[in-house]
Amino acid sequence: MTPVEEIKSRLNVLEVISEYLKLEKAGSNYKACCPFHNEKTASFFISPNRGLYYCFGCGAKGDIFTFIENFEGLDFRGALELLARKAGVVLKDFKDNNRLFSLLELATKFFEVNLNKASKKYLLDRGLTEETIKAFRIGYAPDSFRALSDFLKKKKFTEKEIFSVGLIKKSPKGFFDHFRGRIIFPITDSAGRVIAYSGRIFPEKEKAPKYLNSPETILFKKGSVLYGFDKAKFQIKEKDFAILVEGQMDLVLLHQTGFLNTVALSGTALSEIKGQLRELFYLSPNLVIAFDSDAAGRNAALRAAELTLAHGFDVKIADLPTGLDPADLVREKESGQDFNKFIASAKHVIEFLTSLILRETKEPRTIGARVKKEVLPFIKRLPSSIEQSHFVKKVADMTGIREESIWEDLKRLPRENEKPEEIKKAESSIVRRLLGLYFWQDSLKNPQIDIKNLKSELERLGLFKKEYPKNELVFEAEALYQNADLGRTATELLLNLEEDLLEDKFKTCVTDLNRIKGKEEEEKKLLLKCQEISKRINNLKTRRQKEL
Ligand code: UTP
Ligand code: MN
Repeated sequence: MTPVEEIKSRLNVLEVISEYLKLEKAGSNYKACCPFHNEKTASFFISPNRGLYYCFGCGAKGDIFTFIENFEGLDFRGALELLARKAGVVLKDFKDNNRLFSLLELATKFFEVNLNKASKKYLLDRGLTEETIKAFRIGYAPDSFRALSDFLKKKKFTEKEIFSVGLIKKSPKGFFDHFRGRIIFPITDSAGRVIAYSGRIFPEKEKAPKYLNSPETILFKKGSVLYGFDKAKFQIKEKDFAILVEGQMDLVLLHQTGFLNTVALSGTALSEIKGQLRELFYLSPNLVIAFDSDAAGRNAALRAAELTLAHGFDVKIADLPTGLDPADLVREKESGQDFNKFIASAKHVIEFLTSLILRETKEPRTIGARVKKEVLPFIKRLPSSIEQSHFVKKVADMTGIREESIWEDLKRLPRENEKPEEIKKAESSIVRRLLGLYFWQDSLKNPQIDIKNLKSELERLGLFKKEYPKNELVFEAEALYQNADLGRTATELLLNLEEDLLEDKFKTCVTDLNRIKGKEEEEKKLLLKCQEISKRINNLKTRRQKEL
């Protein structure tokens, strides 16, 4: 048996995917919301008998290997290693086709071995245990220009290779080690393979930055990972929330104390971490940000909140005592502080910000002005109108400002980067798939589906107004639906789309209802409208069951 066959014989597709997604039984299969495109109704199906998954919404399909590759953002080798470990299969004689990973592995061992007495004592004094140091493979880069590169060259790695993983820098006089005199925290991808490093200066030195990361390399793209993600991911799913901290020290100490669902930013902007953010979101949409409580930390927390809110996360911010970071809080048992308490009492970012303003000023007009300037943009960014209404009310209750005035100011606020409705629609993957399917089939002599009908449906939904990138769409559709039952695919996509559109309408209606509270006539009209929309949604659901 090949390793791949052996792994497949030991691991069931359900077992693997259920670690990442919430599954629902659907006949002999299981279904979930597809992690590869945005959707609200589950069209991602898993067949345990055949060991495969398939998404009727976007066409994603494959086995446990493709799932891990796509979900974890790994190459085939990474997926193989991850699954082999999970299945307990030893990959002996496995040809190391990527020397760079073994180079990094070797460098990591070099740093571990070089963790000398002084640097180890520093870590122990900061509260780390020996086991933690081992588990996170924390090491030390000696304060030397050549120690690491000489070692790696002896092991037959070339300067070019060492340079390509960011471990040496070029100067007119030659190469020299990038990390010198630093405690080294290896950064891993979500399979646990070392892809980069972060080094903290030790002993302290003036003028040198406190932390230094590997530069961007082919394995470490724009610092695109969260520190600790590989160790935290399944705990995040289990506990159904993630804790986000700023630094390596915070993360390591929190994991040591049992907060295993913690991930860290470690010097990269959250906006660079798109792929893993998406992954994080599917593990759990609940996020608690626990940054330093100084002004810089607070601003960073608000920026992180802004971004994750727009991704659809439910974001809370932990209100830590001034001057302390999570590392301080879990370490100082004697301080009597209980980190858990701060996590449990974390407030939604909008509430956090409002109470911060109320703490800082008592003057009603200043409160009003600051709420308008600082809080409303956050409310505006909430993706759901129901959520918006909830927080408008909350802010009104907290500040005493009338709900109606908040709504008015909110309406006047421009939405940032708001795209025209049609472009947004064309970008939604369902619309892309439908248009692709249409243009593809339309270009054939003998289309396999009823083109006229599909066109009139698309027109009815108002999707035929803009110029679309036809070739691109056709290419996608061909690649995705080559062997699929096209009639069924089109029906499924149309139903999903119509349901999405109706749900949007429903939400707008509910928001309007909240807004006009008290005006009986209009309320009645809107209530009727809501009822009608929800009836139509239900009809769609019945149709789906009948037709598919
Ligand atoms: P802090 O200065 O709060 O670090 O920066 P810390 O974790 O408390 O540092 P210790 O405890 O003194 O070791 C928070 C994070 O910001 C990034 C690092 O990831 C750090 O952990 N940072 C900080 C940098 O990338 N570069 C820097 O120069 C400083
Ligand atoms: Mn800190």
